Order: sequence, then C-alpha cells, then structure tokens
Amino acid sequence: MQKVNAYKIPSSGEARESLREKGQFWTPDWVAEAMVEYVFANKGGSLFDPAVGAGAFFRAAKVIATEKGLPCSLSGMDIDAKALDEACQYGLLKDDLREVKIGDFLVQSPKNKLSAIVANPPYIRHHRIPIETKEKLKRLSMESTGTILDGRAGLHIYFLIRSLSLLEKGGRLAFILPADTCEGKFATDLWLWISRNFCLDAVVTFAPGASPFPRIDTNPLVFFIRKDQSKEQFIWATCCESKTETFKLWVRSGFAVAPENSFKSYVRDLTEGLQTGLSRPPMTEKAGKYFLGDFVKVVRGVATGANDFFFLTDEQVQQLEIPGKYFVRAIGRTRDVATAEITQETLDILRQKGRPTLLLALNGEPFDKYPETLKRYLLDGEKLGLPQRPLISQRRPWYKTEVRRMPPFLFAYLGRRNVRFIRNTAKVIPLTGFLCVYPKNEAQEFVDCLWKILNHPDTISNLALIGKSYGDGAVKVEPRSLEKLPIPDSVIEGAALPAPAPAPAQLKIFG
Ligand SMILES: C[S@@+](CC[C@H](N)C(=O)[O-])C[C@H]1O[C@@H](n2cnc3c(N)ncnc32)[C@H](O)[C@@H]1O
Repeated sequence: MQKVNAYKIPSSGEARESLREKGQFWTPDWVAEAMVEYVFANKGGSLFDPAVGAGAFFRAAKVIATEKGLPCSLSGMDIDAKALDEACQYGLLKDDLREVKIGDFLVQSPKNKLSAIVANPPYIRHHRIPIETKEKLKRLSMESTGTILDGRAGLHIYFLIRSLSLLEKGGRLAFILPADTCEGKFATDLWLWISRNFCLDAVVTFAPGASPFPRIDTNPLVFFIRKDQSKEQFIWATCCESKTETFKLWVRSGFAVAPENSFKSYVRDLTEGLQTGLSRPPMTEKAGKYFLGDFVKVVRGVATGANDFFFLTDEQVQQLEIPGKYFVRAIGRTRDVATAEITQETLDILRQKGRPTLLLALNGEPFDKYPETLKRYLLDGEKLGLPQRPLISQRRPWYKTEVRRMPPFLFAYLGRRNVRFIRNTAKVIPLTGFLCVYPKNEAQEFVDCLWKILNHPDTISNLALIGKSYGDGAVKVEPRSLEKLPIPDSVIEGAALPAPAPAPAQLKIFG
C-alpha cells in the first residue's frame, strides 16, 4: 500500500482555496496509524470516519489490524464522492469503501452508537459557514451539550461534538484538530462539556519541525478521548519527530514509552490543563504573581479602514500639496521594523524605500476650514465610495481617524519568531499590525526598567501561554491577552522595578 507522508499539496492559490472550501487536507500515515492504534486498543473492531477523504484512516486501520492480528471493519462518510476516487489511487480497494456513505455527516450521521471513531474533520472556519448551516449547528450544539457554543466555532468543532455523542460506553475517539479547539472563545464551554462527560486520555502537540501539515498555517493537536468516567489527570505530549513509527509505538505502549528526544510527555491535572489551554505547555514556576497588565495598558494600533487612502508616502503628500500638520508619523507593517527599536534612522530608510509613514490624522474639524487641496482629496475619497466601507461607515465624519497617544512601546503581535516588543524611540503611531503598549507610570526610570522586563527571554517565552497558536510556531496575541502575560518574579526583581501590588482581579488569568 502506498505510504502517504504529506498532506494533499495544492498546486496553485486557486486550488488551495478550493481545498479550504472543502477542508481537504489529508492526514499523513505516521499520524493516522497512531490515532487508529488508540481507537482499536487491543481489540480492533468497527472503525468509523465521518470525513473519509482519501482514506488515510482506512489504510491505517488495515495496517494496524494486520500488525496486531485484530478484526477490522470500515465505515464512514464524506460529502465529496471524488475524494473517494483518490482513496483508491492510494491503494484502498472498492470493497474497503463499500460502507462509506456520501453525505453531510452533521445532517445524516449514523443512528447507532459507535465504538471507534477517528477523524481529521474539515477545518472550515466560522466565516465560511453559511448562515442557514450555522442555525443547524446551533441546534446540534444545544441538543448535544446543552449550550449554544459561541458563533466562532468552526465546522470541525461540531464534528467533534457529534462524534463524541455517538460513542458507546467505553468507545474511543481520536481527532486531529487545530489549536483553536482549545483557544477559541467557545473552548471553555466545549471543554466543560467534554471533561464532565468523557475521559480525556491524552493530547499530543507537534514541535514546529514535526508538523503533520508543514507549510499550512494551523497548529494541529491530536486528542484521545474515551466515553468513560472522567479522570483528574491526562497525558500531554509534544511529538518532536515526524514520519517515523515512534508516535504509533508510544500510543501502543499506553502513552508510556518513547525515545527521549522524540516525545516529551507529562502527566497534567485536568483542571490546570483546561485553565491553561490544552494547546499550551503546563504553567511552570516561571509564572509569578505579576502580569503585564499590572504595569501597562494595551490598545490595538489605528485601524484606518483604507490604508491606501489614509496612509501615504512623503512623495504622495508633497504631490497632493496637503499641509504636513494634517499628518502624523506612523508605522504600518511589522516587516518595516526589523530591529527591537524604531528610530529616526528606521523612518529615514523607509522613506528612502518609498514606504508610507504619514497617517492622515483629522479630528473632524468643519470641512470648510480645510485647505482646498485637502477638501479635494476627501471628495476624491467619497467618489471612491470610502464612506460606505464597513469600518469607515461607523465614523462621523467618515474621514475622522482613530486617535492614539504615542505609545513608548509597540508589540508586533502576529508572527513566527517575530512576536516581540519594540521600543518606539521615533515616537510614531502604529497601525493595526502592532499593539500600543502604554506604561502605567510615565517616569523615565520606570519606562527604562520596563524595557528590560519586556525584552527578557523568560517574559518572551511566556507569550506561548497567552497567544493563539498557528502553524510552525506562529503565535497571535490580542490586546487583552497581552495584559495577562505572566511576568516571572525573578524578572521583576532583576530589573529592580518597583512592583505594584498585584490587582486581585488579574490574579485569575484564564477562564
Ligand atoms: C481534512 S479532510 C480529511 C480526510 C481524511 N480522513 C484524512 O484524514 O486524510 C476532511 C474531509 O471531510 C470532507 N467533508 C467536508 N465537509 C463534510 C461534511 N459536512 N460531511 C462529511 N464530510 C465532509 C471533505 O470532503 C474531506 O474529504
């Protein structure tokens, strides 16, 4: 049988878009076999996959059943008959696919209870789900969990809920899902339901170099769950080696034995795991009693609604002959700041490169008071239909831009190794690529101490505790989350910062 060690590779942007619509990313064999190993336990039986696709789990089931001499039967569903053709190309027989029904799992799921469910469900984010489908999903969530999950839950979350509801007593489920399953707004309600009604055996994350879906911007996790009394502890592991048998053998050993450098595993308390987030490592002693929000306030950068119109180069402003007093110096892209500090020199280089650094900053003065050049520019904006754009239409008048005080620090909140604090020596105003970080005490000594704290490696490493994770180690941090960044006591002491009394409301950081 042909081994598949890569996800289905889209050849063009268009093809990738079409795959996204259907959520067709195939699971590599080394992961599929580990997942089937768990649901088959040592008995084998009937395997059900609600989203069969090219049949990764069916192939894996045949391998595991043969290796262990177990009985095995296969059934499942897929909405797309063409995907099954691919399953045959990868070595499955027509007979293996006999019990695969073509249809929507969330509408026509099996009526009987199941003993072994395994899936890589379609990862279709909420904004791609049609409104009518969302209504059905709300009902499904209510029927299964007793609550309506936050509307940002994607289709994969409902595959999980529906599949868990179909498990018979003692039945097992293994799902590979993106990290938003534990980080999204809906995650608290979802995991409350799961932890009360099921037994979470293990969660596996992947080191950036060992991702099952390299170059795809999701951070996948594998969840191993049983329909049984819940337990107070579960296994949490990071798989550091891809395309080998170690993942499968580790599952076969009951999550116990693996070569040291290929798996890092811990026993964690369920309560801690759910509070920290199952995609994140356990809180270590590094986290102390202080949070960044004790020292700073965080606000997102300016959203213009039309950067092409509001954010201009020096040359454009000269050509338009609009007086400089209507602009402030600003920074747009994180790529425009390669270093840990924005200085006058940074701005000079950007200007030489023809990058925009001037933000039109109008306070809504009477239109008649503006110079003719500016009036003409605004009228051009009206002709372009800018006042009707979603964000701009909420402003009165439409050209009045958001106001920000100059933040002494910026935070580049989205990226791989690039998530970082930046000292704003050039006193610019950031656009939405950055967060504005305002110290609560503006004394120079305090600001200098704070800079040491923000740049400390232990502070930076705690970002993983509060960010949303994407593929290849990328993290995204929202303003409120950044204020919840734990700052280790040792870092505060090292910087000799007069620590404020911790605010009780901020002691409970998660949930
Ligand atoms: C991420 S792929 C996984 C396929 C395969 N099990 C694997 O792991 O490689 C998800 C599959 O779900 C199918 N799908 C999408 N929406 C579905 C739905 N509502 N019901 C059943 N299958 C669906 C897609 O056609 C796709 O084949």
